[in-house]
Amino acid sequence: MDTTKELSPEAQAIYDGLKAKIGSFTPDFELWYKAQLAVEINQLKKERNAVVLGHNYMEPVLFHTVSDYVGDSLYLSRVAAETEADVIVFAGVEFMAETAKILNPTKTVLIPSTKAGCSLAEAITAEDVRWLKAQYPGVPVVTYVNTYADVKAETDICCTSGNAVKVVESLDSDQVIFLPDEFLAGNVARETGKTIIFPTKDKPDGDNPDLQYQMIGWQGRCMVHEQYTVEDITAIRADHPDVVVLAHPECSPEVVEASDFSGSTTAMMDHVRDNDFPSILLLTECSMGDNIIANNPDKNVLRLCSVRCPHMNQIQMQDILNALKFNQYEVTVPEDIRLKALASVERMIAIG
Ligand code: 13P
Ligand code: SF4
Repeated sequence: MDTTKELSPEAQAIYDGLKAKIGSFTPDFELWYKAQLAVEINQLKKERNAVVLGHNYMEPVLFHTVSDYVGDSLYLSRVAAETEADVIVFAGVEFMAETAKILNPTKTVLIPSTKAGCSLAEAITAEDVRWLKAQYPGVPVVTYVNTYADVKAETDICCTSGNAVKVVESLDSDQVIFLPDEFLAGNVARETGKTIIFPTKDKPDGDNPDLQYQMIGWQGRCMVHEQYTVEDITAIRADHPDVVVLAHPECSPEVVEASDFSGSTTAMMDHVRDNDFPSILLLTECSMGDNIIANNPDKNVLRLCSVRCPHMNQIQMQDILNALKFNQYEVTVPEDIRLKALASVERMIAIG
């Protein structure tokens, strides 16, 4: 790569902006190369009337250049429902792109990699949900958006990490089935004062059949957030007594309890922006830490974790360019499944 070559004025402006924001932790040649990709992507976006929706976990260059909207899954679902663009390129994982297609079936929705899955979405099938509904007839089913369309289609209402408690509290029912994240469910149960069980096919009433319970969960986990432990927090607090710990609710209830704040990825970002903490530790995906540091250069964010989501990491600048150039990879959802899934996603959006 000849980094002495002169950049076009447009690429130079993007390069300069990136250098100021993320130059302290990103190699120069990477900024130089990606600034030129950003120019090509911006041109194709214009030609195709396309919009790029970037999740907060996107790598810093993608997040700070070609993403037209950035945010958590709730916000990006809302944008996907309202956009006037002809093409939506979802810079996130497959279930997010599928949700955009469910909400906006006449648009072309592209996911730039076929390998951007999610350990939570893989943890449950539509057949599993049907089994649970047969075990607990009449109990409403809340499903985290981190699931595939056929699972959403078996569901009464969806939720995200940003509105899970609100969604559960909106249901007029003594019991709720909450799928598939064991830890998010545990955190909702903790916050709402409910008791939860985790049934399996050989123990449909969980480990304690005599227990009175209000929530029925499932044993799916996020492969990133399950890695954080209470011991990590104790060790950090020993070295940095003033540290404020922010944990995503996909962390275990013990980790969330030992933290100072828990919320969706955007809630975590806002909490850092809006407060003056002596130092901050983020227990979430590490690219988001970089994006927060880029937007808050004056804040002391401890760089102690480097857990990257391998699925989010599939989406790079070159993949966005290829998506727009070659119309890849188009997301499709069978119409009968889409209509059922739409009802549960729209109920969630109405709650906010
Ligand atoms: P948010 O909805 O908080 O952005 O979380 C999505 C996700 O997949 C976190 O791992
Ligand atoms: Fe799924 Fe976890 Fe990656 Fe989020 S961070 S997309 S929940 S595997």
